[in-house]
Amino acid sequence: MENNYQSTFGMIGLGTMGSNLLQNIADQGYNCSGYDNDINKVEQLNNLNRQNIKGFATINDFVNSLKSPKTIMLLVPAGKIVDIVINELLGVINKGDIIIDGGNSHFIDTERRSKDLERKGFHFIGMGVSGGEEGARKGPSMMPGGDAQAYKTIQPILEKIAAKDNGEPTVAYMGNRSAGHFVKMVHNGIEYAIMQLLSETYQVLKKGLELNDEDIHDVFDTWNQGRLQSYLIEITTDIFKYKKPGENHLLLNDIKDEAKAKGTGKWTSQAAMDLSVPVPIIDIAVSMRDLSKYKDLRTQAATLYPHANNLKYEVDKDDYINKLEQAFYFAMVSAYAQGMHLLYCANIEYDYKLNLDLIAKIWRGGCIIRSEFLEDIYRAYKKDHELEHLFLDDAIHKNLIESTSGIRTVVSDAVCHGVALPAYSAALGYFDNFRTKNMPSNLIQAQRDYFGSHTYELIGEEGVFHTEWKNINS
Ligand code: 6PG
Repeated sequence: MENNYQSTFGMIGLGTMGSNLLQNIADQGYNCSGYDNDINKVEQLNNLNRQNIKGFATINDFVNSLKSPKTIMLLVPAGKIVDIVINELLGVINKGDIIIDGGNSHFIDTERRSKDLERKGFHFIGMGVSGGEEGARKGPSMMPGGDAQAYKTIQPILEKIAAKDNGEPTVAYMGNRSAGHFVKMVHNGIEYAIMQLLSETYQVLKKGLELNDEDIHDVFDTWNQGRLQSYLIEITTDIFKYKKPGENHLLLNDIKDEAKAKGTGKWTSQAAMDLSVPVPIIDIAVSMRDLSKYKDLRTQAATLYPHANNLKYEVDKDDYINKLEQAFYFAMVSAYAQGMHLLYCANIEYDYKLNLDLIAKIWRGGCIIRSEFLEDIYRAYKKDHELEHLFLDDAIHKNLIESTSGIRTVVSDAVCHGVALPAYSAALGYFDNFRTKNMPSNLIQAQRDYFGSHTYELIGEEGVFHTEWKNINS
């Protein structure tokens, strides 16, 4: 290895994401260095035989290959490993150097690292990266937050490697400290919600309408040409076409029904509960992945509580698919609305200085939840930067109203036939309470006061009150 190799960008963690992102940066003409404690991964990088990418077997050689101020991105598994790598780095880099954590780190960890590294004189950026392996190679959506000065230094590189939407890069500075990882976490919460909605849609098409795989493919394919156009529907369409070579059934039908999760959906629900922001579709999506893992329990219960032999709906299929399209639209809007509401509230609580229109803008390309509908979200927040909830936007209001009959039909038919649609139901229940001026929560307050003297407030009267409820004067 030549000693005078000088690079602009360093990557620690040469898994597929790290390697692909580094190749993407090298494609833009930057000299790049890579390091991984797995020597095989370093060799794989060097075996790419690219002039402007070099892998190093020791952290010292890696760091020495970088121009100052050094820019180093970490793409390693979230959690303790990030702290271990940062500690190792601090011994070999200088004050003023830039560390970017590009993994799916928990925002609370990023908050701590951000403050700690600032105190020590290093520039730190916590950056969400979305778009999977292909996105990393060809253009991801990126959500950097933290040190604004450091962002300015790396901005030209990030803008070049990002996906482009309407000619604009899908990257922007999100806000203070852990803002980038918070935004990415909420992105993933919405991702979980939409994936759950799609799996429930599959259930209605397969069990309720008894469509075969080809017809299900066609439904998703058609939806993807219209207002539901999105990356998640696009890949679902592909999945309903994929057969292993030499086989004549879908690979999908051989896959176990136990969904895994790395945690970002759960973190979204936890963060939302900490802030008292309701995100029930995301909560349900996390819970249903959890329920899917209890295969043995579900198998026993299936014998104890069998479904009726036939779940088939007696309906006109084409007409019903239109209603289902409306229902999906309604629930999808609700999933985004809940995520955006969480961002709105987190912004106030954590003083992130988020721009919700900018977030919608960079989600329009490159990321997993990119969709046609993000254009409407972008417009809504662009028109009104203070918009508290998407349901209050005029254009969204109109489309939601037009879709309510669809979701009512789909949820009520599912309830009558025993088809489980918890995410669709959560979307509708959330909406029906959201648009209720008087919720029945006065009863909860009375009960709390009854058994625990927790007091209640009265309509039209200042103060808090307590009643000895047992002294009933009947
Ligand atoms: C993305 C994805 C990415 C990853 C998820 C998977 O935006 O590119 O969200 O971050 O695929 O972390 O999450 P689960 O394993 O929890 O489904």
